[in-house]
Amino acid sequence: MNGFKYIGGELYSEDVKVAEIAKEVGTPFYLYSSGALFNNYHEFEGAFSELNPLVCYAYKANSNLALCKVLAGAGCGADVVSEGELRKALQVGVPPEKIVFNGNGKTLRELNLALEHDILMFNVDSDEEMVSLNSTAAELRKKARISLRVNPDIDPKTHSHIATGLKESKFGFEISSAIESYHIANELGNLEVAGIHIHIGSQITSLEPFMDALEKIAPLLTKLEETGIELKYLNVGGGLGITYREEPPLLLSDYRQAIASLVKATGLKIIFEPGRRLVGNAGILITQVLSLKETPHKKFVVVDVGMNDLIRPAFYDAYHEIKTVKDEAAADGIVADVVGPLCECGDFLAKDREIPRVRGGDLLAIFSAGAYGFSMSSNYNSRCRAAEVLVKGDIFQVVRERETYEDLIRGERFFEN
Ligand SMILES: Cc1ncc(COP(=O)(O)O)c(C=O)c1O
Repeated sequence: MNGFKYIGGELYSEDVKVAEIAKEVGTPFYLYSSGALFNNYHEFEGAFSELNPLVCYAYKANSNLALCKVLAGAGCGADVVSEGELRKALQVGVPPEKIVFNGNGKTLRELNLALEHDILMFNVDSDEEMVSLNSTAAELRKKARISLRVNPDIDPKTHSHIATGLKESKFGFEISSAIESYHIANELGNLEVAGIHIHIGSQITSLEPFMDALEKIAPLLTKLEETGIELKYLNVGGGLGITYREEPPLLLSDYRQAIASLVKATGLKIIFEPGRRLVGNAGILITQVLSLKETPHKKFVVVDVGMNDLIRPAFYDAYHEIKTVKDEAAADGIVADVVGPLCECGDFLAKDREIPRVRGGDLLAIFSAGAYGFSMSSNYNSRCRAAEVLVKGDIFQVVRERETYEDLIRGERFFEN
């Protein structure tokens, strides 16, 4: 299920007219299809079923509780990177034995909380973190299961901000030193060495980087076995790309075929941490045109969504398809920049884009906005963040209220003299 389609010139999400939602909720708002989410998860899980994988959705992509609940209800685990994400995963009912904790800077408070809940494992990022996790676990009289995040030094051929497995990146242990760190971990009484973790980047659309990474860690796996360190889990991270424009997404069946024999040969349980692949195309962002401005040099479609709502174009040079919610506006086309109302030249959603000649009040849909959309939004320019809406069949519900001025200033106070 795609989740979004045009019927008779009108954009629908599942069985609901998007324009109807806009009338009731106002703009801007993120709109998610629960059917698309559910399908994405089952497609993913089903594609790798012969490997009996544990799929841990990466909450950073979109941690709206309602959306996470759909995934948790389908049986999906959680990859979390903060106290907030851990609490959300627990709140929507993800069993602790399906939760992995990532990140290169976990606080003691986060380690404590995760240990108290006995999560499946921590993907540790440095020797120092191993030592502090060991002492935290000792204080709680617990054992912390760990994987070492290994940096395979692979170019995933994606945007530099999301290429995380290069040796210059801040993440993980270098392969050459990992064996030593595994042995240090093995000596720490309150750690249980359980696995190995790699995550080389995001929005990856070819198989090679994934395969290269697995090949690079293979000798380490052999060495670990030879030196008596027994692993149970092989966590291959997330990173699978989606279609934003016309790029063909990596076929899950190709990925499975490429890795199946390799993974089976290791005898390890495979863990995936997909984020974008599960939610990216299950969400769109609806905005209203404020004006069409024409200068002697350029045309600008000014909308009520800004870089504070969707930072991907400014931050990653990302392309998002933009279409009118009602097709009839499509008659006469222009080439324009679609820009937000913030005081930044980087505040754009599209550059030199062919778009129907819209007018103030027209609704636009920004596609493939379900991942790293709302979760990366901010209050920059003291703007209230957008509402979030979830559709299921012919029902829609606001699953996060649009922020108000009171939300905006919550916690702020005047300095008392
Ligand atoms: C460790 C880790 N796992 C999984 C993900 C999810 O990546 P994606 O959304 O590309 O699947 C990320 C994203 O940054 C990550 O850092």
